[in-house]
Amino acid sequence: MTSTASNCATKESRAANVLPRLIQAGMGIRISSAKLANATSRLGALGVVSSVGLRHIIIDEIRSGNSETIAAAQSFPIERYVKDLLEFAPGGTKNKQSAPLDHPDPKKSEMPKRLSAICAFIEVTRAKAGHRGQVGINVMWKCSLTVLPSIYGAMLAGVDALLCGAGVPMELPDIVRRIRSNHDLVYTPLHGTDTNVMLDISSDETTASLGKFKVPQLIPILSNFAFPKRIMDIWEREYGGAKPGAFVLENHSAGGHNAPPRNKQSFGEMDEITTYFDKVKALGIPVYVAGAGSEREDFLSWTEKGAYGLQVGSRFALCEESGMRADLRLKTIDFNASSGGEVITSSRLSSTGYPFKLVPIEGTIADPEVFDARKRICNKGYLLKSHYETKEDGSVKETYICPGMPEKQYVNLGGDAEDTVGRGCLCNALIATAGLGECNEPALITLGEQGRLVTQNLSAREVIENIMSPEFVTSKERELSLNYRQC
Ligand SMILES: Cc1cc2nc3c(=O)[nH]c(=O)nc-3n(C[C@H](O)[C@H](O)[C@H](O)COP(=O)(O)O)c2cc1C
Repeated sequence: MTSTASNCATKESRAANVLPRLIQAGMGIRISSAKLANATSRLGALGVVSSVGLRHIIIDEIRSGNSETIAAAQSFPIERYVKDLLEFAPGGTKNKQSAPLDHPDPKKSEMPKRLSAICAFIEVTRAKAGHRGQVGINVMWKCSLTVLPSIYGAMLAGVDALLCGAGVPMELPDIVRRIRSNHDLVYTPLHGTDTNVMLDISSDETTASLGKFKVPQLIPILSNFAFPKRIMDIWEREYGGAKPGAFVLENHSAGGHNAPPRNKQSFGEMDEITTYFDKVKALGIPVYVAGAGSEREDFLSWTEKGAYGLQVGSRFALCEESGMRADLRLKTIDFNASSGGEVITSSRLSSTGYPFKLVPIEGTIADPEVFDARKRICNKGYLLKSHYETKEDGSVKETYICPGMPEKQYVNLGGDAEDTVGRGCLCNALIATAGLGECNEPALITLGEQGRLVTQNLSAREVIENIMSPEFVTSKERELSLNYRQC
């Protein structure tokens, strides 16, 4: 190869929207931080940031005067969003105030939505800085109230892919189309969530800003054949033949939330990815496999079976660039090295009602004593959902509730006390795991079965080298660097 040819980006990587074969998974809260996604995307993976909890995390950074965060905020294209956020900076009128929560009153909901949008913008902007690699954002459908602003903010930062898990992102093509054409959005309710969501953006005049970017790849994360098939049918019929860029098929042994077991009791053979992989593959859309291997041989064997690539979470959650608090990360690696580790599936802890994976590390809320000692409080609100009550005069009152709330508050808002039993507050626990928020909150570590294999403290580069090969990393790093000449 001549030096000119070797200095030119390969045809594949330059071709519009060609997805990397490895996805560094979106992991909330702040585990897949901008720092981790920046490190992985510049080395040839799809680096993914998580949208969950960003409003609180980024406001805390602004409050403490973090100059990098403030500079990223100032590059947001709509001035009043920047003004809203910078009120929290040192010397600003809101510097001492808490980040606002979502609210059913449309007037009170405008500010938190604007803040969620600019915070997603900041996270994606930082993940994309300094290289030409691709960056995605993971949007949890169960965090329904932040779905629309997170997608909006991420698109204004030129996000390359929208990866949507913990729900079925049925309206996704419509959301993207409306945002690109600067139309308001209303979904009553957002599919599968019972929660009404809306976003008024028509006065923002962002068509030109968005027009600079390619349409992001749409990547639903699912765990069966029925939902990918339905998405294909409904997108074809209702959204002008829109197609997913890929599906991620997530096995029940993956970290974070899992789809409920088919028999509603415990995971069995019918839940294994192998039972539905071939049928999804036959839909003709690239398929990534998640939670069913994260070693080189897994990559080779799944791609031989026809997978497009792997989505890997737990190994990156435990790597040096992860947003996990360093002491918890190292403690977990030690736990794996000394005892083989352990991952438990809780069917009760998450207020979403979905099974949730946790690692039984002392001092975290996986420890029953710590769980019982925690004073319940709902002050972040990312898992709030609508509750509707018909009043005597026939009018319907909408409130936001979460079974992780204090029982009394939940019942006063119209919930059933029984729902609160055994529920933890994932918002506060996962923010604490990232070493952020109120420091007296106990943390919670979630990992998939693959996480138990991590017995060494590796960098993101080493993880990608292990899965893809050192040669792949070297060539992608060169090709994706900013000073690399495109032919
Ligand atoms: C710490 C952690 C947090 C996660 N958070 C999310 C999340 O917020 N949204 C999501 O769709 N998936 C989440 N996941 C699942 C990952 O995106 C990914 O699919 C999974 O980790 C793949 O399996 P593996 O962990 O065995 O590699 C999380 C996983 C981990 C380990």
